[in-house]
Amino acid sequence: MSDHHGPLLERIADRSARVGVIGLGYVGLPLALLFEEAGFPVTGFDVDPAKPEALHRGESYIHHIGKERVARAFARGRIVATTDFDRLGKCDAVLICVPTPLGRHREPDLSYIRTTGDEVARRLVPGQLVVLESTTYPGTTREELLPRLAAKGLECGRDFFLAFSPEREDPGNRSFHTQNIPKVVGGMDPPSLEAARALYGAAVARVIPVSSPEVAEATKILENVFRAVNIALANEMKMVLDRMGIDVWEVIEAAKTKPFGFMPFYPGPGLGGHCIPLDPFYLTWKAAEYGAWARFIELAGEINTSMPEYVIERTARALNGHGRSLKGSRVLVLGLSYKADIDDDRESPSFEIIEGLRAAGAEVAYCDPYIPVARPGREHDIGLTAVPCTAEEFARHDVLVVSTAHSEFKDARLYAGAKLVVDTRNLMASLGLGEAGKPGPQVVRA
Ligand SMILES: NC(=O)c1ccc[n+]([C@@H]2O[C@H](COP(=O)([O-])OP(=O)(O)OC[C@H]3O[C@@H](n4cnc5c(N)ncnc54)[C@H](O)[C@@H]3O)[C@@H](O)[C@H]2O)c1
Repeated sequence: MSDHHGPLLERIADRSARVGVIGLGYVGLPLALLFEEAGFPVTGFDVDPAKPEALHRGESYIHHIGKERVARAFARGRIVATTDFDRLGKCDAVLICVPTPLGRHREPDLSYIRTTGDEVARRLVPGQLVVLESTTYPGTTREELLPRLAAKGLECGRDFFLAFSPEREDPGNRSFHTQNIPKVVGGMDPPSLEAARALYGAAVARVIPVSSPEVAEATKILENVFRAVNIALANEMKMVLDRMGIDVWEVIEAAKTKPFGFMPFYPGPGLGGHCIPLDPFYLTWKAAEYGAWARFIELAGEINTSMPEYVIERTARALNGHGRSLKGSRVLVLGLSYKADIDDDRESPSFEIIEGLRAAGAEVAYCDPYIPVARPGREHDIGLTAVPCTAEEFARHDVLVVSTAHSEFKDARLYAGAKLVVDTRNLMASLGLGEAGKPGPQVVRA
């Protein structure tokens, strides 16, 4: 056993180990706060200076992470946030939570992991534990991080420790959060696994050790592929059952009464967020290297990415029924974020719906209390600001397209003057709107 392992475990046990978290976004910020709340000194790192500045002012830039929580943590003085990566050398553990997007040809973009790996390697000191948390294909920790960290002649398992532990954050989920979501951990070697188990065990309710970083990496990908494939199935069922005049939502409600062997997934306007639309393609890309084709994943991707087009087509047909064309119609898209009650618009299908409607000549506005201004993204720049969430505004448009079921949209009075609603989330049924013979807008499911 190395001279460094025991002291690291002792510092973890007495909570004097300094935990560094690189990338203070949706994953890194709650993780940094979690370790601070567990009693560890924490240093958060980000390349974007606005984030450390906001945190030190006691502000949160992520809606579902309350500013009170941030303010309380930073007031205690145990946590700091910085852009100064030289302070990595003072950390006992370094947790990497940087983005893993796709490139223009849907290939993994590991540039953030590589840059961060180089930053950590430059300051690596004996006895440090490094854990990658970013979602990626199996093999990344071993192929990308290990050689960088070992380049200075330090040996993994003896001089430093390396593991992969996937984040399972579900933004906005009130029941499950970083502390009570079980944490899967795969170490490069037994000492690395032991160190990572000890660290997470000191802050989260349950740690699940697995035999290698590759198993941990593949676990995360499987979880996300499972969701992508099942959502695609729900979307396919929606399109098939719609042709047959059967309400897919009613079918899912009935099917989910089965006490075993069924888990409900719901159709929607397409996939969004930084995980489900992207991560499965990390695996398909890597699988090709082994001559293996992940056909389920590709098919699910094909179905899910065609959903915005389906919604546009349904909107055009619905307007046609009212004697109007998309061209020249005023369309209000409800919801820009990809999921209800959060402010994350990454990969949101609403962007494609808005762009597609515009391309067809519609005059499009959006309403989203969580996103007052649509920021330009990597692929979309719609240049819009949100309209108010009022009955007057809803009545001004020829059609409303429900893309996200925010709580703020769940008020039947908002739709009193609306003429037509294209609903991708079954929101209108929950408000008792759209039933034949009843007053209110005509509702078309999409
Ligand atoms: N958002 C989720 O719900 C979720 C859930 C599970 C896993 N993940 C995974 O976690 C990882 C991070 O995702 P996220 O949603 O937190 O992303 P994010 O964009 O919210 O945060 C990433 C942060 O990293 C910073 N950053 C970028 N390059 C950096 C660098 N070189 N050094 C330091 N900081 C850098 C960015 O400024 C940003 O603050 C991704 O791999 C993602 O797939 C995300």
